[in-house]
Amino acid sequence: MCGIVGYIGQKRARPILLEGLKRLEYRGYDSAGIALLHNRRINITRSAGRISSLETKLTDQGLDATVGIAHTRWATHGIPSEINAHPHKSTNGQIALVHNGIIENYRTLRTFLEQQGITCNTETDTEVLVQLIGHFYSNNIEQAVRDALHEVQGTYGIAVISAEEPDRIVAARKGSPLIIGIGDGEYVVASDASAIIERTTQVAYLADGEMAVITLDGFRTMTLDAVPVTKEVQEVEFSLDQIELAGHKHFMAKEIFEQPQSLANTLSGRLDTRDGTIHLGGVVNYARDLARAKRIIFTAQGTAWHAGLVGEYLFEDIAKLPTELEYASEFRYRNPLIDDGTVIIAISQSGETADTLAAVREAKVKGALALGIINMVGSTIARESDAGIYLHCGPEIGVASTKAFTSQVAVLTMLAIQLGRRRFLSQAQAHSLIAELSEIPDKVKQILEQSDDIQSAVEQYIDRENWLFLGRGYNYPIALEGALKLKEISYIHAEGMPAAEMKHGPIALINDGMPVVFIATKGNQYEKVIGNIEEVRSRGGKVLAVATQADNTIKDVAEHVFYIPDVPEPLQPLLTVIPLQLLAYHAAVLRGCNVDKPRNLAKSVTVE
Ligand code: G6P
Repeated sequence: MCGIVGYIGQKRARPILLEGLKRLEYRGYDSAGIALLHNRRINITRSAGRISSLETKLTDQGLDATVGIAHTRWATHGIPSEINAHPHKSTNGQIALVHNGIIENYRTLRTFLEQQGITCNTETDTEVLVQLIGHFYSNNIEQAVRDALHEVQGTYGIAVISAEEPDRIVAARKGSPLIIGIGDGEYVVASDASAIIERTTQVAYLADGEMAVITLDGFRTMTLDAVPVTKEVQEVEFSLDQIELAGHKHFMAKEIFEQPQSLANTLSGRLDTRDGTIHLGGVVNYARDLARAKRIIFTAQGTAWHAGLVGEYLFEDIAKLPTELEYASEFRYRNPLIDDGTVIIAISQSGETADTLAAVREAKVKGALALGIINMVGSTIARESDAGIYLHCGPEIGVASTKAFTSQVAVLTMLAIQLGRRRFLSQAQAHSLIAELSEIPDKVKQILEQSDDIQSAVEQYIDRENWLFLGRGYNYPIALEGALKLKEISYIHAEGMPAAEMKHGPIALINDGMPVVFIATKGNQYEKVIGNIEEVRSRGGKVLAVATQADNTIKDVAEHVFYIPDVPEPLQPLLTVIPLQLLAYHAAVLRGCNVDKPRNLAKSVTVE
């Protein structure tokens, strides 16, 4: 949800900022801009569309600048256009700002500015902030930013430069992430580490309500009330080659095919096949509280919410713990009843999703233990939860989440087994699940080999605008995830639901040739699913099934079958989702869609 990057150093800022923007483009990609500060002048170039459009507009102005800020936008207020693109500047052009977040009281602030004779020229909420800084400015940009932020309600990660103080960048955050990369005689400030790691792996994370003043000589951090704060410098975990395409056409393809490895990384060092137990270092001090919890609440958004739904099945089935799942956006506002025995587990790839973060904060206010299942090390949710488990699946760049989902489910499976062991799961039962779990990465590899078959099947339905995805039990969350994958990257309308629910309305949609995907693996509801398949077939629907290897019956009732190796039911979600990720990927490519940057979406939703 918008990416910001700033540079101050000895080198030309422009190529460094553009490179940083490209790395951040997955956060937002409807318009972009850059401000370069040279000879006490700020030169701004902005463009609607992708970073490549911005590049074509650049002239030699500001080329030698060694200080600058840049932005890639995901529009909230105002259409994606050149005028609404960041950086925004003060009326006299002396101050420029990039912003990620939402200024909630921008209307009030705009009226205030108008009363002072300052007119805003854009439709954005952001412009009021830079105008306000300009209004307060009196030879001290740090103080002006502080004064302006005291008037602001909402969320922000900002970087600000002033033509009159060309030796510094002022940065601040509240609700939107901001990191300072510490290089050799240079600093990069950015929304996330992907824009930094080309230059340095040493970073300092700003916390909410903190500011930084960055100069060539170093950086100072302080609260918004100017109380100095000391920052620990940390090493970023991932490397550049992890965020490059490595021969794949799209990040989504790379991330789908990477799953044998990313899953192996998630499981690594955590499975104890000898004692039939699981080691999850991050929550070791809370295992007792978890096992004795009266109620577990998973909270998340998007694909992570679907992982949470698998988690709900796993926790009740394996750990025998009462478990609920809630959209974080609902949880945070509905004044939930939380008592001592409730544990909240937030699931988030980025660790920055605004609603999920707010749910964690609300849970903590109410006294609950709040844990996180997070991918991005050092992210806000990771730091604010009481404890947590990292996915270790590497950075995920494709906007449609794939490898993070399977790693989330793997972590949930491990946690369910660990808690199960403290409750009713015997050593033998756990042992067999853990042994099977350790073989999952290889089994994923076998499924990926069907990619070409899946592509040929999808090709036959590529002009269809409506798809259904159906499953029961553990396959129901996967039906939801399959439908989400298809709609988000190929813009085909798709619905996922429990197979039995089809009869309560959606069956009316089924007409001749409508593709219906069934996740119909062997398990205790298999026969019932076959019954549902017959219902679809008799109305002309075309069935594509995900089934268990060596299931010959299914071939007679489905047009296309994609097989998964036989595993116990609780482990099936780790496999059944793979053909559906491939199905969505091929559909999007065949329809000529931008797979990694689908329209209207952003990887990290840092606004509510
Ligand atoms: C966005 C992404 C989804 C993701 C969701 C939650 O909508 O496009 O892929 O599942 O946010 O993100 P999180 O980082 O919290 O897992």
